[in-house]
Amino acid sequence: MHLLEGRCPFRGTVAILLLVSVAHAIDLDISSEQSIKDAASTSTYAMMKYYYGNETGQIPGAFPDKWWEGAPLFLALLEYWHFTGDTTYNEELSVGLQWQSGTDGDYMPSNYSSYLGNDDQMFWGLAAMTAAEFSFPDRSTGFSWLSLAQGVFNTQIKRWDTSSCGGGLRWQIWPYQSGYAMKNAISNGGLFQLSARLARYTADAIYLQWANKIWDWSVSSPLLSNSTWNVADSTDVDNDCATQGNSQWTYNYGTYLMGAAYMYNYTNGTTQSQWLTAVNGLLNATLDKFFITGGIIEDYYCEPAENCNNNEILFKGLTSSWLATTALLVPSTFDSILAKLQTSGQAAAASCTGHSNGTCGVQWYKSTWDGWMGMEEQISATKVFTANLINFNKTAPVTSTTGGNSTSNPAAGEDDTTASSQKTTTITTADRAGAGIVTAVFVAGWIGLMSFMMFGG
Ligand SMILES: *[C@@H]1O[C@H](CO)[C@@H](O)[C@H](O)[C@H]1NC(C)=O
Ligand SMILES: *[C@@H]1O[C@H](CO)[C@@H](O)[C@H](O)[C@H]1NC(C)=O
Ligand SMILES: *[C@@H]1O[C@H](CO)[C@@H](O)[C@H](O)[C@H]1NC(C)=O
Ligand SMILES: *[C@@H]1O[C@H](CO)[C@@H](O)[C@H](O)[C@H]1NC(C)=O
Ligand SMILES: *[C@@H]1O[C@H](CO)[C@@H](O)[C@H](O)[C@H]1NC(C)=O
Ligand SMILES: *[C@@H]1O[C@H](CO)[C@@H](O)[C@H](O)[C@H]1NC(C)=O
Ligand SMILES: *[C@@H]1O[C@H](CO)[C@@H](O)[C@H](O)[C@H]1NC(C)=O
Ligand SMILES: *[C@@H]1O[C@H](CO)[C@@H](O)[C@H](O)[C@H]1NC(C)=O
Ligand SMILES: *[C@@H]1O[C@H](CO)[C@@H](O)[C@H](O)[C@H]1NC(C)=O
Repeated sequence: MHLLEGRCPFRGTVAILLLVSVAHAIDLDISSEQSIKDAASTSTYAMMKYYYGNETGQIPGAFPDKWWEGAPLFLALLEYWHFTGDTTYNEELSVGLQWQSGTDGDYMPSNYSSYLGNDDQMFWGLAAMTAAEFSFPDRSTGFSWLSLAQGVFNTQIKRWDTSSCGGGLRWQIWPYQSGYAMKNAISNGGLFQLSARLARYTADAIYLQWANKIWDWSVSSPLLSNSTWNVADSTDVDNDCATQGNSQWTYNYGTYLMGAAYMYNYTNGTTQSQWLTAVNGLLNATLDKFFITGGIIEDYYCEPAENCNNNEILFKGLTSSWLATTALLVPSTFDSILAKLQTSGQAAAASCTGHSNGTCGVQWYKSTWDGWMGMEEQISATKVFTANLINFNKTAPVTSTTGGNSTSNPAAGEDDTTASSQKTTTITTADRAGAGIVTAVFVAGWIGLMSFMMFGG
């Protein structure tokens, strides 16, 4: 993920604005389906004020300085449509989610591919996966949503790196990026989640195999503990992953929890109880650590100090949606998750008094607008509102045997010779239909050129 500078919170004007703004929160009755839908509609409208991709001369789905954020935006729109039935934004959603997939159908578009992290690409893969699981119609031309998720999977497993730490994905894709020396929770937990979801949707054994492999590696590393259920943010390849950067973020817990919930729902027999243990452990840790004031979700590493960057403002929105899906896939967790989504949703709504026009803040636990505003604030608010709609519609993500009809392409992305800097390691293709494996060679000259373009220009 592209780390950005902290942002201007409009601090200077906060005091004045708070005085003049009438306390018009998004009016939310958490027990009313219609009220939640209305709140989601208001926050989504405000969210789309930041989207220009459907205007003449603009590029669909493009966020040049923060490319990955298109994925959470489209995730929010998918959830909004799925839970409310409102199709207002579906065309922009469909066009943008397709456009950014690039010519190889793996979310490595050439405008951005030379400086992406595995997590950036992965979030787009998760958005495409959600489109498939919600039966969002495939476009008549272009790539199917399922194949786009498969394209991300295929390009990422080629980057599985056994040269250090016994495996794992590095954070960044390219050696000239400083984060290349790290292996982090969101990249590995993201691919774990994507693999588990592909396994459940397609029933293709290769995805199950990789989900297990990524989980096993994660618990063998300092990133994920299967006894305390601590999830660390990162670990360094320079000391063979002996130490951890233990920053605590909701989404690192959320992504492993989501993947474990899919594994629980998909697997039967003995391994199911192993996944139930993981779900309960990760859920317990998530609820204990991040729902602090009044049971309201909080990324406490940045919120009290008011120094959350754009990325960090999105984490609790992403996590809220993953909690909601977990509640559907693991019914025994439903009540405890819903209770926390309700307190959080209520507080998020109370934070939306900004400018008396549905502008939401960051620190939901303050239950009043804190003076922050932006697309990220609106995305997270929309996501926690729609997450609350599981109370009224328990329709779980579909699979290819329960109504999902997105076209499968197990070889998606295999032809993309520019997606990886590492040589292909052994990938067993026994279970895989379709084309052969292309060996991605290390294109030294090309990498050199890209570094020159990045750092020289
Ligand atoms: C709310 O008001 C602010 C300040 O005028 C403006 O920047 C923002 O675009 C408005 N949002 C909506 C949804 O109208
Ligand atoms: C872009 O989408 C918005 C809805 O978010 C709509 O109001 C606007 O008219 C659209 N613009 C164009 C040029 O289609
Ligand atoms: C629940 O949501 C699904 C997907 O949007 C929809 O098809 C279904 O009609 C909804 N069911 C109810 C009871 O609202
Ligand atoms: C890449 O940039 C070109 C030139 O601005 C633009 O036409 C194209 O749509 C962009 N592609 C993506 C995927 O953003
Ligand atoms: C797939 O399902 C969606 C949603 O139910 C539907 O709109 C679409 O027409 C279907 N596509 C095909 C090829 O059957
Ligand atoms: C926890 O992970 C370790 C690998 O680090 C494994 O040996 C052990 O069996 C796991 N425990 C459980 C209960 O799954
Ligand atoms: C789990 O059980 C269901 C129903 O008994 C079956 O349809 C499904 O194939 C099983 N899944 C796995 C991964 O064995
Ligand atoms: C998590 O587990 C601990 C120890 O069993 C327990 O004390 C705590 O109440 C649990 N937290 C939640 C939110 O369930
Ligand atoms: C899997 O999810 C479905 C849909 O919510 C649910 O009905 C089912 O009970 C879940 N399976 C298990 C084993 O809990």
